[in-house]
Amino acid sequence: MTRAVRVAALACAVASCRSSAGGGEVVPPPERFAAELAEAYPADARANGVVRTFDLVAGETTTSLTDGPRVRVWAYNGQVPGPVLRVKLGETVRVRFENRLPQATTIHWHGVRVPNAMDGVPHATQPPVEPGGSFVYEFTPKDAGTFWFHPHVRSSEQVERGLYGVLVVEDTEPPPYARDVVWVIDDWLLDERGQVYDKFNTPHDLAHDGRWGSLVTVNGSTKESLALRSGERVRLRIVNTSNGRVYKPDFARVHATLIAFDGMYLREPIAPTGIELAPGNRMDLDIAVDTIASERIAVYDRFAPSRPNRLAEIVVDDIAPSTPAFASPARARVPRWSGALAEPVTHDFRLNARSGGPLGIAWTIDDAAFEGHEHAHPSALKLARGKWHRVRFTNESYRLHPMHTHGMFFRVLARDGVAADEPFFRDTVLVHAKETVDIGVVPLDPGKWMLHCHVLEHAESGMMTTIEVD
Ligand code: C2O
Ligand code: CU
Repeated sequence: MTRAVRVAALACAVASCRSSAGGGEVVPPPERFAAELAEAYPADARANGVVRTFDLVAGETTTSLTDGPRVRVWAYNGQVPGPVLRVKLGETVRVRFENRLPQATTIHWHGVRVPNAMDGVPHATQPPVEPGGSFVYEFTPKDAGTFWFHPHVRSSEQVERGLYGVLVVEDTEPPPYARDVVWVIDDWLLDERGQVYDKFNTPHDLAHDGRWGSLVTVNGSTKESLALRSGERVRLRIVNTSNGRVYKPDFARVHATLIAFDGMYLREPIAPTGIELAPGNRMDLDIAVDTIASERIAVYDRFAPSRPNRLAEIVVDDIAPSTPAFASPARARVPRWSGALAEPVTHDFRLNARSGGPLGIAWTIDDAAFEGHEHAHPSALKLARGKWHRVRFTNESYRLHPMHTHGMFFRVLARDGVAADEPFFRDTVLVHAKETVDIGVVPLDPGKWMLHCHVLEHAESGMMTTIEVD
């Protein structure tokens, strides 16, 4: 789109759109929507020349999740969760990866708009990294925010065994939080010896919402606690790395404001009440307490109201010496795309299951299971780069499907036909039983990207396809 058309389109966004600078023709809403996005989000990385090099080694080790026996896990750099890689926007990430696992693997950078060849999808963007092999990932993030990384080979086993880490891309000028803290939430299904139950993709997991464990950990521990001084403001980045479990964190008396979701700032901060953290999702919270008494505040997950899970605790024990006042960061230009529901649906992805396939149950998109990159999925979609599209997910099943797109972020437009102005972008949206979710998307990055359910057992048994952006 030319600069002139873009400016005209923006003018249309504020006035009622009867004409444009281009000579009196009406700018169709999809063009206006795409222009609104292009104004606010960069199509290209702005590399500042600084390269941050990290070494990541995947291998077997043991860890203690609770007071019980040490648990044999697979881990990046010997730790679960893996390391938090921190860079600033503009810096280039270089990861020298080495595979010391007994299986082939790759690393996918969840939520990061990387060049397609760095996306970590086996047989599509790179050959799998065989045991003993290595690979160098290099990319310059285009967006600041909270992202994570995990294998894209046999994910339902490899992620479950402990392979995941967080990538934080800080703003060029980070807001002055007293601290920036990461909580990685995972659940574990252990056997009677306290080890990771070693049957994966079981008929039970496949027939339900994937593998839900019995032990929930934050940062690899059941005893995570965060010391927070009264008056202090902390940025808390929460990542759900579970195979299937959804969380709804309840911060009780802690003041918590949602400032970013799936890495991207909101149009304006909102209360996090009722926000669901499905597998793959991240939420960034601005948290503070104003009590003066020492106290311990437990943070619970209340996704299943009758079975709350204690996640972690916040320990208030002091008063911060001085409290800087600042507005929570936001991104005022998250487009509203009003009128989007009058536009036609580009594609309706129907989500369902059938019996059969190598695992006994196949999860399907438009009645077809993904069978590897050598066979194009019948619903493989082609979307034009820089153009706005309305896409629908229709859940024909009774299970949960957190649908995730690689290489692009999107905004929820409606649930079950009812307009929903979510003031933020996402890369993963939870589609509930029998629900229909409409999203708006403007792909900015060329390549063949995966679209799949982030219940890893569902993905593993076929609920994947591709979106090709040219
Ligand atoms: Cu975190 Cu293909 O996904
Ligand atoms: Cu699913």
